[in-house]
Amino acid sequence: MNLNTSKGTGNPIDRVEGKLKVTGMAKYASEFKVKNLVYAQGINSTIAKGRITAIDTAEAEAQPGVLAVITYKNAERLAQYDKDLHPLSTTSIQPVLQSDQVHYYGEYVGLVVAETFEQAQYAARLVKYTYAQETPDIDFEASKGKAYTPTEQSDYSRGNVAEGLAEADVTLDETYVTPIEHHHPMELHAIIGSWNGGNVQAYASQQMIDNAATTIADTFQIDKKNVRVMSPYVGGGFGSKLAAKQHVILALMASKAINRPVQLTVSRNQMFTNTNLRQRNEQRIKIGAKSDGTLTALSHDTLSHTSTYEQYQEACGTVTKMLYKTPNNSVTHRLMPMNLQSPFAMRAPGEATGSFALESAMDEMAFKLNMDPIAFRIKNDTQVDPSNGKPFSSRLLNECLRLGAKEFGWENRPQKPASKSEGNWLVGYGVSAASRRAPYMKTSAKVILELKNDAVWATLQMDATDIGTGSYTILAQTVSEYLDIPVEQVDVELGDSEYPVTPGSGGSWGAASFANGARAACEQALKDLKDKAGETAATTTVALMKAAQLSTLEAEGTAEPDEEYKAHSVFSFGANFTEVWVDKDTGVFRIKRMLNVASCGKILNPKTAFGQIIGGCVMGAGMAIAERTEVEPNFGNFITRSFADYHVPVNLDMANIDVVYLPEEDKIANKMGIKGIGELGITSVAASIANAVFNATGKRMRDLPLTPEKIFVKKEEAA
Ligand code: MOS
Repeated sequence: MNLNTSKGTGNPIDRVEGKLKVTGMAKYASEFKVKNLVYAQGINSTIAKGRITAIDTAEAEAQPGVLAVITYKNAERLAQYDKDLHPLSTTSIQPVLQSDQVHYYGEYVGLVVAETFEQAQYAARLVKYTYAQETPDIDFEASKGKAYTPTEQSDYSRGNVAEGLAEADVTLDETYVTPIEHHHPMELHAIIGSWNGGNVQAYASQQMIDNAATTIADTFQIDKKNVRVMSPYVGGGFGSKLAAKQHVILALMASKAINRPVQLTVSRNQMFTNTNLRQRNEQRIKIGAKSDGTLTALSHDTLSHTSTYEQYQEACGTVTKMLYKTPNNSVTHRLMPMNLQSPFAMRAPGEATGSFALESAMDEMAFKLNMDPIAFRIKNDTQVDPSNGKPFSSRLLNECLRLGAKEFGWENRPQKPASKSEGNWLVGYGVSAASRRAPYMKTSAKVILELKNDAVWATLQMDATDIGTGSYTILAQTVSEYLDIPVEQVDVELGDSEYPVTPGSGGSWGAASFANGARAACEQALKDLKDKAGETAATTTVALMKAAQLSTLEAEGTAEPDEEYKAHSVFSFGANFTEVWVDKDTGVFRIKRMLNVASCGKILNPKTAFGQIIGGCVMGAGMAIAERTEVEPNFGNFITRSFADYHVPVNLDMANIDVVYLPEEDKIANKMGIKGIGELGITSVAASIANAVFNATGKRMRDLPLTPEKIFVKKEEAA
């Protein structure tokens, strides 16, 4: 069966760009053939705090092929922050090589440009730096004294948590720790940039084309209309490519200096220090409940670090404001400045980490209350978002939990922790609830219709990106649906700032925003055709083209949130179920099974959606059992600087993952009924695993990742 002959959305068709990718025809940022291309290599600081006192570039400059060595001494002046600790956004300027100051280990302190990649790499090692080193702030405990409230503060409260706790029969007060993590998409961050007399052009691996153009224009203080960014294929991002980072600016700076196009790739090793990270969080949760399980109070205080020059806060408390009904609630976020690179959004920023804390704490409370953890959650369900009083556009969380319990065989869960074994393995089940904002953003698209061989062929253009999620495919399906033509007659062209503006890929808004933008363009095309055709009995797109006597037609459309959307809280919901087996003697454990139930509106393509959910589950498992970036305590370098020591789950770690979608079309969310899916899968998976480990062993894991030495139960302890 050739699934690609299907028409419209909802079918599990293969990726329309799949063949291009597996045959190497799909070009990624660093693969474009550009005439006169030269190569750049970034140089990284070897101290975490201090200043550069001397630079000797002579030996590097004398090497064959070397075209330029750029440091703060000869770099052009870029836009600067007007004050320290600027709040970070996806359009923040990216000044680089602007002073002698060093803020973290591995910060760019120079750039070598040469005819070949190897020449650039070699010469980069020959540039000699002398530093006046200061003691860096790299200790989490010691930095706590410097914690401050972020400028764009997001503290929230309703009722009175202290009073709510006083009314409770049972209380909990625990702190949950998640380590520094790195995004590490398969494709390295990369750019081929040409300055070209001020007509700036960049093939760059970015999630958001329009924002990247803004950052480039603002950093160089040039007109954005002279900046073209292209990113037709992106090998993953997870948030690290939301913003254009310093390498983008470095490559363009170099191109301007030597008047040739420059390729700059951030190595895997440099991805630890020069792109982004998810910061370490300490999250303190307090819960109060009546003995029947009714919540009386819930609070969530997050402490995390940011760099010494920019503010990034991960909104871990978002989920605690809205997920359960409680009259007394408070959420705070505090930041501490440290000599580490700035953090930034990583898949489900806020929810992935926040739900680990909240959903672990809810499991702990259920145990204290002697209640089933599913019954405890259902007891505190709410159909109105308690943080703002708006009804949810739809909220099928209870349905996710109930259906999951049935499909997973929740009734076989051991009631008492550490009470079920299979041979030498302790067996445990865990559950968690997931919620993730489902934003919908203003999106424009253009569709070009052509009448050829008695059929209509369509080309869709928008600056949206496909970061591996399936955007090309779902958009071909959307155009096919609205023009009522086969998917094979639709061409989708993405990732070019010359195309209509979209919000790009991020925050789980891609599918809903892009698809509705494409819908709007198709609807405009049909309207134009009908206007031009005049009185006609024609109904199909082909017949309309003929009636209008047109061989081609171009139309643009824009979709954006309406008043109904704004009057509601719009979230995707889900539930994750995990079975773990823990070896009694070693603490080694296996994730035996996982079931993810997802309620995320209309599913445009079950196959690409499945990829998103299981990808999220694997990343959530990585967070739970493997991922951790360690800071070296004297110099502030990261100890984990490659995949040899930054561990991610492999097939042996992962079990069968089943995904069930609840059938739903959320027409309040948007006209097509789509809600985001890219981040729902990761959300709360770590809690589900930790809860299963507790059920298996009786040991509560509040400090990720859960490695065997933490789980390991000594015989005498267990007795
Ligand atoms: Mo996402 S962290 O908005 O790519």
